[in-house]
Amino acid sequence: MENPQAPHVLMLPFPAVGHIKPMLMLGKLLCQAGLSVTLLNTDQNHNNILNPIDQSSFYSRYPGFQFKSLAVGLPPEHLRTGPVVAELLYWITSACSTKFKEYLMVEENEKGQPEPVTCIIADGIMSFTIDIAEEFHIPVITFRTYNSTSTWVYFHLHQLLQNGEIPVQRDEDMDQQITSIPGLETILRRRDLPPFCKLDSTDHLLQFYMGQTSKMKRASALILNTFEELEGPIVSHLHSIFPTVYTIGPLHGLLQSHINHNAPPSDSSETSVRPQDRTCIRWLDSQPSKSVVYVSFGSVVVLTQDQLLEFWHGLVNSGSPFLWVIRPGLVLAENNVAETPSELTIATNERGCIVGWGPQEEVLAHRAVGGFLSHSGWNSTLESIWAGMPMICWPQIADQWINSRCVGEMWRTGLDMKDTCDRSTVEKMVRGLMEDKNEEIRKSTAIYSSMARNSVAKGGSSYHSMSKLIEDIKSIQ
Ligand code: UDX
Repeated sequence: MENPQAPHVLMLPFPAVGHIKPMLMLGKLLCQAGLSVTLLNTDQNHNNILNPIDQSSFYSRYPGFQFKSLAVGLPPEHLRTGPVVAELLYWITSACSTKFKEYLMVEENEKGQPEPVTCIIADGIMSFTIDIAEEFHIPVITFRTYNSTSTWVYFHLHQLLQNGEIPVQRDEDMDQQITSIPGLETILRRRDLPPFCKLDSTDHLLQFYMGQTSKMKRASALILNTFEELEGPIVSHLHSIFPTVYTIGPLHGLLQSHINHNAPPSDSSETSVRPQDRTCIRWLDSQPSKSVVYVSFGSVVVLTQDQLLEFWHGLVNSGSPFLWVIRPGLVLAENNVAETPSELTIATNERGCIVGWGPQEEVLAHRAVGGFLSHSGWNSTLESIWAGMPMICWPQIADQWINSRCVGEMWRTGLDMKDTCDRSTVEKMVRGLMEDKNEEIRKSTAIYSSMARNSVAKGGSSYHSMSKLIEDIKSIQ
C-alpha cells in the first residue's frame, strides 16, 4: 500500500464488464484522493477478464490498488451455457457471499488491524455484503451501476406486483402507463419494464431483484454513476430510501477532469477490461465527418443469426458507413460467416468496418461518427450522452429497457427501437438519425453533453458529490 495510514476501501464489483468498469473508475478516483483501495474480484474475472493480454500492464495502470480475488471457481456448465440468468445470478451471489465472509475473517484476524477496512463499496446486486459487514461493524456503501431511474423502478417491483401492474402478459396491455412509481407516471409504459416483469410473478429473476433491492435499502449510502442535471428529480425520490445519495457521473468524465489536481488526468481507455482493436480508428480517420453509424451491443447481449442479418441488411440499406463491434459470442451459433449473403459482404468491404472489441469512448468522440446504434446499457448510454452522440436504442435485458425509454422520451437524445429489429425499421431509424432530420435530438444531445461536462468540472454537481464521498469516507471512525 502506498499510504498505510489512509482509510482503506474494500470494493466488491459484480463480476461482469459493465459493473467492473465503473467500479475501477471509482477506485481510481479514490486512490488519486489518497485513499487506499482493494478491489476484490472473482478468481475467474481476476484471471480471465482483467488479464487478457498483459497482466502487468493492466495492473501498472492502477498504482496504489490492491487486486485480490475470491476463489469461487466456475459456475456449473449448464449455468454458463444455458439461458438461465437467474440461476447464474443466484449461484454467483451465493458463492461470493461465502468467500467474502471468509475473506473478511482472514483479513481481520491475520492483519491485527494495521490496515482495517474503513468501509466497503459493493455493487448493488452484491447486497449480501450488508449482512456480513454488519457482523464486522464495517459500513457498506452500495454502488448501483444502473442510472437513478432504473434504480428507482427496481425499488418498486414489490409495489408493481401488489398493484397488479406486473406481470404484463398480454400484448394489448403493453402501452398502458405505469402509475405506481412516483415521478414516472407520464413516462413509463409497461412495455418499458425489464423482460422479467413480463413473465409471471414467481419468475426467478423478478424474485432475485426484489430480494436484492429490499436488502440494499440497509446500506449506509447509495452511489450512482449519473449526474444531477440529468436525473435530479428521481435522485430526490431516492432520498426517501437513502439519506445520502452520491451522484458522481459520468465517472469516465470525472476521471478525465481528475478530482485531485496534483494527479495527471487519466485516459479512460485505461479502464477497459478487454483488449481493444484500435485499427478502427484508422478506418474512421478516412471517413467523412458525422457520416458513420457506430454499432455495439455491449458485453452481455446476444443476437440470433436472424437478428444479425436483419441488422446487417438494415445498416447496408441505410446507405451510411458503419463501424460494428461483433464480439466473440455475440451471435448464437457461430456459423454466420459462411451464411452471410454476398451482397452484405461486398457492402461491408466497401463501407463497413467490423471489430471484436473497440475503444468505444474514443470512437464516440471521433469526428466521423454521427450516431450510435446500441443496446442502451447504462455505461454506453452515459458515454453517448457525454460525447453528444444521438442514439438508437435496442434494449434486450434488465435496465436497458428503462434506459431506452429515458433516451427516447425523457431526455430526447435518441430513438427508442425496442421490441423490433426488422431490416426496414433498422434502415428507417438509421436514416432518421443520420440524415439530420432530427434537429430536436441533436440539440438535446448537445445540451446534455454540455451539462455532463459542467457536472464533472470543478464546482460542478458530480465533482462536488465525489469530494463529499471522499470526505465522508475519511471521516468514518
Ligand atoms: C451490463 C448490462 O448489459 C447493462 O444493462 C448495465 O447497465 C450494465 O451492465 P454491458 O452489456 O456491458 O452492461 O453494457 P454497458 O453498460 O453499455 O457497458 C459496456 C462497456 O463496454 C462500455 O463502458 C463501453 O465503453 C465498453 N465497450 C463496449 C468497449 O470498451 N468496447 C467495445 O467495443 C464495446
